[in-house]
Amino acid sequence: MRTIDWNDESNLIVMIDQTLLPEEYKVIECKTLASLCEAIMSLRVRGAPALGAAGGYGMALAARLSSAKDMDSLIKDMQVAAKTIKSTRPTAVNLAWGVDRVLHATDDAYDLKSIKSIALSEAKRIADEDVAKNRKLGEYGAELLEDGDVVLTHCNAGKMACVDWGTALGVIRSAVEDGKQIQVIACETRPLNQGSRITTWELMQDNIPVTLITDSMAGHLMRKGAINKVIVGADRITSDVVFNKIGTYTHSVLAKEHEIPFYVAAPLSTFDLEGWEDTVAIELRDDNELRFWNGKAIAPKDVRVYNPAFDATPMENITAVITEKGVYYPPFLLDELFI
Ligand code: MRU
Repeated sequence: MRTIDWNDESNLIVMIDQTLLPEEYKVIECKTLASLCEAIMSLRVRGAPALGAAGGYGMALAARLSSAKDMDSLIKDMQVAAKTIKSTRPTAVNLAWGVDRVLHATDDAYDLKSIKSIALSEAKRIADEDVAKNRKLGEYGAELLEDGDVVLTHCNAGKMACVDWGTALGVIRSAVEDGKQIQVIACETRPLNQGSRITTWELMQDNIPVTLITDSMAGHLMRKGAINKVIVGADRITSDVVFNKIGTYTHSVLAKEHEIPFYVAAPLSTFDLEGWEDTVAIELRDDNELRFWNGKAIAPKDVRVYNPAFDATPMENITAVITEKGVYYPPFLLDELFI
């Protein structure tokens, strides 16, 4: 199934609970806006493009659950829901993008029923488009990979971070589909281990060779010449930087030092051309993510902690950005992408 979807029978959001992977594959339902927000905050659904779909479906759910009796009240309810959903995670721009897209789609609605049906069809369109964009992006990106490449990736920018197929892993999947032998080095991606729990699981399901390393092993392998390329996803691309999972910047510096191409794969919905590094809030997560693992203490329980979820990689460290419209090389005149 898709990472996140709408169940037409129950009229609810369904998603794969990613917090349980790889031990358990469980599909959960979000029956309320509160349960969707909890799912986003606890990373049951995560990854920028999947969050875009979650935002869209969240608005459709809010419209469906509203007991408003007139259009103005329903629109007010949806505006409140939009604010609530957007506040769950601040960095990935796709979440707010998905919410706003559904909200604006209802501008032309003429009655209560049409608001609800437009909201749902727009949310479904976002999800369908995400799959199509990732496929297209994968085709463009696959041309950059050669038979025999060993590709390092960080976090999970795969099917589970999108509605399906994936961005960074979508490029790898497309290259494999073209008949190329690609080996993946997956960084575990501390502290929540999206790399070791999700990327390796996803790739092994597709029989794509993958080797797990800790985040700090990347430099050692690059120095030994064991990595040909790096491909990561993105949570937000501003005019000056790419925000992605914490640790991405370090890999980019290492890749530059070792003259290894460093690619970012992301749909255009991840671009925030009005934003700059300084205008974007980096999500700070719970201190206990570093103090405990599976309920077991791995640090003194009162140690001071700093736990940002993302970092910023300057454009000069990036070889190319792969989008559904093509591959872009520096200088990145990002507004040209949208012409
Ligand atoms: O905190 P997460 O798991 O939502 O972070 C996800 C990432 O940083 C991904 O690399 C990014 O969203 C790209 S997903 C295609």
